[in-house]
Amino acid sequence: MDPLLPHSEPDPESAPREALLAELRLSEARLRLIFDNVPALIGYFDQNHVYQYANKGYTDWFGRGRDIAAGRPIIDVLPPKVYAVVIPHVVQALKGSRQRYEYEMEREDGRIVNARTELVPEFGPDGEVLGCFVLSVDVSEVKQAQVAVAQAQKMEAVGQLTGGIAHDLNNMLAVMIGNLAALRDRHPGDPELAEFLTPALKAAHSGADLIRRLLTFARQQPLAPRAVDVGEVVADAAQLLVRSLPDSVRLLTSLAAPRQRLIARTDAHQLESAILNLAINARDAMPEGGELRIETDECLLDTAEAAEAEVLPGRHVRIRVTDTGIGMDEATQARVFEPFFTTKRFGQGSGLGLSMVYGFVHQCGGGVLLHSRPGAGTQVTLLLPALDESAIVRAPVGQSLRATPDPETAPARPGRPLVLLVDDQAELRRIVRRQLVALGHPVIEAGDGDEAREILDAVPDIGLLITDIVMPGRTDGRALCRHAARARPGLRMLLISGYSDEQPGLQDPWPLLRKPFTPEELESVIEETLR
Ligand SMILES: Nc1ncnc2c1ncn2[C@@H]1O[C@H](COP(=O)(O)OP(=O)(O)OP(=O)(O)O)[C@@H](O)[C@H]1O
Ligand SMILES: [Mg+2]
Repeated sequence: MDPLLPHSEPDPESAPREALLAELRLSEARLRLIFDNVPALIGYFDQNHVYQYANKGYTDWFGRGRDIAAGRPIIDVLPPKVYAVVIPHVVQALKGSRQRYEYEMEREDGRIVNARTELVPEFGPDGEVLGCFVLSVDVSEVKQAQVAVAQAQKMEAVGQLTGGIAHDLNNMLAVMIGNLAALRDRHPGDPELAEFLTPALKAAHSGADLIRRLLTFARQQPLAPRAVDVGEVVADAAQLLVRSLPDSVRLLTSLAAPRQRLIARTDAHQLESAILNLAINARDAMPEGGELRIETDECLLDTAEAAEAEVLPGRHVRIRVTDTGIGMDEATQARVFEPFFTTKRFGQGSGLGLSMVYGFVHQCGGGVLLHSRPGAGTQVTLLLPALDESAIVRAPVGQSLRATPDPETAPARPGRPLVLLVDDQAELRRIVRRQLVALGHPVIEAGDGDEAREILDAVPDIGLLITDIVMPGRTDGRALCRHAARARPGLRMLLISGYSDEQPGLQDPWPLLRKPFTPEELESVIEETLR
């Protein structure tokens, strides 16, 4: 007997037998309809572990069809791995104890699904257990969301740790590089000194480069975000790639609509290096050769898609880098964005490529998706918030990637203006000051934002403000620049930073110089600022 049907007795006195049977059949059909359409797995098995009932959801879940209900034992229905997890609960439930558990199952198509199950014993009149109701729900999506949140939290924690260490190392390196460069400049043409200085400077620069990559991962790399024509960046990257890919790798690039400009607010230089990183990974994954595709288009993400990519819903510029290489298993995929995770031989990879891509794209308010299967290739998708095409025109002169200042209206280059240099680290100030003086600038120093405000208000001759972003006290570098922009319109400003604990750069109208920097880099960014 179907345990889910009502146990009502027909009354031969009040209705003819036929009519009653017809009513019962109708009632059963209605109940089946309901049970087959609820989004849950409902079943019943008896003391002999034999199914007496299973709704459509149940049979679909195990992919067995209707025959599941026809007196089949549990062991024949469940895949062996699931059976091993479930059977202790079945035994306990048939002893009268309600059970609750979760299990994972691999579908025929390789997809992993998760169920949460409750077993409810049915008792006879004497308290004996007759059988057991099964109620399961598909919790795969919840599980995936939990995994995604855990992954995002892990990346956040690793990012913060990395960022903190990198910040301190960065400042130490800035002091080293600055002093070594100053020493070199004081003794030009001294071969003996150069023998010691050159390798020391080179090592310090390599260290600075490593730190820069770590800061990118930690989303603390100052960005120079502009309205960027992504199609052009991809085309530039492709030109570089053609030369560095072996003949066995075929490179294909495509734009959704060749005439459409895909504009995103991002840092063109960093985006290009992200694409190159992905392409180099793809090349390494295809030692025997294959196809590397870089596709760019625009997409509209709904809430669910946006959640998967950890971005806000809406229009995005999408860059997909696809290879036909060796692919990755699940364990590798779970770790690829961690800094220093690499499967490459020592010296072949530092494990920072994808970490940088991840950090950079998130810093731009975008997201990264990864699809890969062993032997079936890999696709990495970058999503960047899209801007209207007009944004590239609206960007102020000097901000837009391709805008060049109009020689008619560009101000004449001033002499060497008085610089107000603001940094809380005296040692760093000393070095930058020396570099500025070498460039011919008179310099006033301030140790924090509040002091700088007072000086700014008191010294009208200041022509250039150079300030660190993160400083103790009420006024940080950005607040100082905002104050200066109000109080001293026309004052040129330059931010210096290797670190910031908020989202740096995305909204800044001022140029940024990353610490540590060489005297040449300082000079060139000052020239640009004063232009
Ligand atoms: N397209 C791909 N196909 C297969 N595996 C990949 C692919 N991209 C990345 N991986 C795996 O992810 C790991 C980490 O990649 P990541 O770019 O972060 O570091 P790396 O390439 O090992 O070193 P680096 O980029 O710093 O030189 C790689 O070692 C590789 O195992
Ligand atoms: Mg790499």
